[in-house]
Amino acid sequence: MSIEMIASEIDKTKVPQHIAIIMDGNGRWAQSQGKDRTFGHQSGVESVREAIKGCMEIGVKYLTLYAFSTENWNRPKEEVDFLMNLLVEAIAGETPELLKNDIRLETIGAIDELPESSFQHLMQAKKDTAHCQSLTLVLALNYGSKKELTQAMKSIAESIKSGAIKADEIDEKCIAKHLYTRDFPDPEIMIRTSNEMRISNFLTWQLAYAELFFLPIFWPEFKRDHLWECVRDFQQRERRFGKTSAQVN
Ligand code: IPE
Ligand code: IPE
Ligand code: MG
Repeated sequence: MSIEMIASEIDKTKVPQHIAIIMDGNGRWAQSQGKDRTFGHQSGVESVREAIKGCMEIGVKYLTLYAFSTENWNRPKEEVDFLMNLLVEAIAGETPELLKNDIRLETIGAIDELPESSFQHLMQAKKDTAHCQSLTLVLALNYGSKKELTQAMKSIAESIKSGAIKADEIDEKCIAKHLYTRDFPDPEIMIRTSNEMRISNFLTWQLAYAELFFLPIFWPEFKRDHLWECVRDFQQRERRFGKTSAQVN
């Protein structure tokens, strides 16, 4: 199906606010062509641009990309170093482009544990784009749901200890306010490439009612069309939130 056809099938009045993506399969994609895994990471940058364009063109306001998990530190040192460098280059190099397109950069995850130069570049890019409004691009970096929830529980425990709140005042809103994602709506759509059917420690709280899409392509193959197909299919799914079909119709 042509890209125009897919776009025409999207109901522009029911576009999701937030799409989250697990960008997976860079290494396998490169290796399938006899190349080094790092070539896959490098090529994945173009797919990031595609995902951003796809969101902007249909009016999605938040795009969260899983770029580096708390578990990814366990990869060979050369690969971790390559990813950190790529990150700095991509961020520093793309800032003018982000500004031109009115894109605000945000992050979730323990970015203070990244190498100093990566951290500084990120902070600068976030500051420079803070006024932008068309799209909020959230990079999940050194992100893990279990780490996020652990830290939230510690922080809530501290608030109780200091007397700021009482234990029976803890509710879902209170927990959500202690997560990295406190300023963003929950994603309605989660897409993972590379045909792996798992969420790998990504946004477990926030994805509680998201519609999940697992695509049989590697991340460097991802194009706007794929994102739009997910949005179109999302609009055809019946989201019941625990109710019966009759109730929601
Ligand atoms: C996703 O691709 C990028 C990161 C996790 C940083 P992978 O590097 O996981 O590629 P595969 O899944 O091993 O093919
Ligand atoms: C998830 O992909 C993390 C990112 C895409 C950044 P992984 O490739 O690390 O996940 P697993 O190990 O296959 O679960
Ligand atoms: Mg992977």
